[in-house]
Amino acid sequence: MIDYSQFEKTPAIPEAGSMIETFRAIGYSIEAAVADIIDNSISAGAKNIFVNFEWLGNDTWISVKDDGTGMTDLDLIQALRPGSKNPLADRGSKDLGRFGLGLKTASFSQCRKLSVVSKKKNGEPVYWTWDLDFVNQTGNWDLIKYLPNEHFIQEINSLKSGTIVVWNDIDRLVKDLQKNDDNSLDKFLGIMQHVKNHLAMVFHRFLESGKIKISFQDRPLKGWNPFLPNEPATQGFPEEPFNNGMVVVKGYVLPHKSKMTNDKFRESEGPKGWNEQQGFYIYRNDRLLLAGDWLGMYRKEEHYKLARIEINLPNSLDSEWQIDIKKSIARPPLALRDHLRAYAGKVRLQAVEVYRHKGKM
Ligand SMILES: Nc1ncnc2c1ncn2[C@@H]1O[C@H](COP(=O)(O)OP(=O)(O)O)[C@@H](O)[C@H]1O
Ligand SMILES: [Mg+2]
Repeated sequence: MIDYSQFEKTPAIPEAGSMIETFRAIGYSIEAAVADIIDNSISAGAKNIFVNFEWLGNDTWISVKDDGTGMTDLDLIQALRPGSKNPLADRGSKDLGRFGLGLKTASFSQCRKLSVVSKKKNGEPVYWTWDLDFVNQTGNWDLIKYLPNEHFIQEINSLKSGTIVVWNDIDRLVKDLQKNDDNSLDKFLGIMQHVKNHLAMVFHRFLESGKIKISFQDRPLKGWNPFLPNEPATQGFPEEPFNNGMVVVKGYVLPHKSKMTNDKFRESEGPKGWNEQQGFYIYRNDRLLLAGDWLGMYRKEEHYKLARIEINLPNSLDSEWQIDIKKSIARPPLALRDHLRAYAGKVRLQAVEVYRHKGKM
């Protein structure tokens, strides 16, 4: 052990301005950022989650509201601290979080003002805002008691308990845009449609089981299942457990185009398109992390596009699988790679058969 008392010491506190820019550059897409906010709602026991936005040009806001447990004032301040939980700490088996950063980094990746309003059962609403312009001005990590729009207080009061996360000054998306610019509005709506499709995919198990409901601009969101389990021509492979049953893998070969209606075929393609959606689908606690990736084992090719394989992980394997902050990357441990490759090989062979011979084999 080093005897630290013998050394001179000096504080070297992270400089706010540059830390902010680092946080902002982690590389979240907007859909991954919104999904990370929803993870928190699910971890907080929410049954209903509402994603809303209002187009106002550069004053456009996006909010995620949930009816979870909510937070006290102190909880909220703690939640807004970057690094509020140690990544190495054990998590509840249903907890979708990891680094204690998501709320902040996901939000800052998109906006300069992050407000959170929250209420515990029988409690009063509490709120705080991170305003990056203010932090930059003062160089201090100070929250401000500011809400860009008072109506969020009424909204939270209509719930027994819950939380609303609001993004304002969404510079990555709507900087300098005018409210009456229809072209920009179209683009914005296109991006939000993309967000919606992504959420339908990432949370499809929760949505299908009815564990949670997500409403998107007041319309219920329907889960998108990559494996078409209800199509009669879908071929499921036997489940295979690895890692003492902690990791469970199951492959699917989707039906040939001729075995589905045109509508179903188009719908089954998924957010990224048929070719891109082939490969492994990694679920962590039923939440989809990675959708369609051969994990460096194979290349994506047209004739394998009907192969999709789910891998199910518990959150206790996060560090072994190198789950990243954005929850968009996972890497299987070396010891498992050969097994996964072999399993995928069998599924891929069958996928090619179906692709070439319409599955008549
Ligand atoms: N919607 C919410 N409802 C209740 N608590 C929340 C909510 N969002 C965040 N929190 C609290 O803030 C903490 C930090 O969230 P976050 O920065 O996303 O990190 P992580 O999810 O990895 O813990 C969470 O662990 C939780 O305690
Ligand atoms: Mg989180």
